[in-house]
Amino acid sequence: MRVTKEIVRTWEENSKIWIETLDKMAIPSRQITNPAIIRAISENTEASILDLGCGEGWLCRALEGLGYKTFGLDAMPLLIDTAQKRSLKANFSCISFEEIIDWSAGNYSSETLDKLSEEPYNGLVFNFCLYEKEGVSDLFISVRKLLPDYGKIFIQTLHPATMHAMGLKYNSQWMEDAWAGLSGDFKNGHPWYFRTFEDWFAEFKTAGLNLEFIYEPKASEADLPSSIIFVLKLNMA
Ligand SMILES: C[S@@+](CC[C@H](N)C(=O)[O-])C[C@H]1O[C@@H](n2cnc3c(N)ncnc32)[C@H](O)[C@@H]1O
Repeated sequence: MRVTKEIVRTWEENSKIWIETLDKMAIPSRQITNPAIIRAISENTEASILDLGCGEGWLCRALEGLGYKTFGLDAMPLLIDTAQKRSLKANFSCISFEEIIDWSAGNYSSETLDKLSEEPYNGLVFNFCLYEKEGVSDLFISVRKLLPDYGKIFIQTLHPATMHAMGLKYNSQWMEDAWAGLSGDFKNGHPWYFRTFEDWFAEFKTAGLNLEFIYEPKASEADLPSSIIFVLKLNMA
């Protein structure tokens, strides 16, 4: 994963303000995308969810309130500490995507990941946390070990049609600053690789994931969806 250091540095610098921003609900699109990911999960999987790149843990808390057993992983200690303090169950651990890939390849030991793979959760979610160009299919291949055969993967991300609305050509491309346009005093935003539908599907195919459904959450007055949610299942062939 090429830009990981830059991404991690940005999140270290901005974890505190991210928590404040979510607490104030200061990202208007989240009023659409938060309920949308809860709906996608509750319509497609039952009982338990692993939240990767969970941030300060709002989605785990929301799903716990609906009766799900949850576990959240994130690379940022401050976000995981906050998630632990805010949850009644405190099922969170500071583990990065790169550590999951290394664990899966046998190059990193983690009792937490061993336990999660021995007693897998029914579904796994990445909510607005996949930023890289390289290594995404490696991550998907690695997380298969954390799921049962019938497990589902949920990914919420920017809708590819947003490129056109931003005046960009419809090509997968790096966005300079994933934080542009967010209100709040965010510093040193990191790049974000924006994918076309074709390129998302290529990543899924490489990782042996079948697309089962998509959601396109949209505000009633808006021209374009606020995001896209992919619902994937493991291809066991
Ligand atoms: C936009 S936030 C989303 C957080 C949460 N999923 C939510 O919906 O509020 C992106 C999250 O991805 C996490 N993240 C980014 N790169 C990561 C990596 N390589 N490994 C683990 N977490 C990562 C960040 O620490 C941050 O919490």
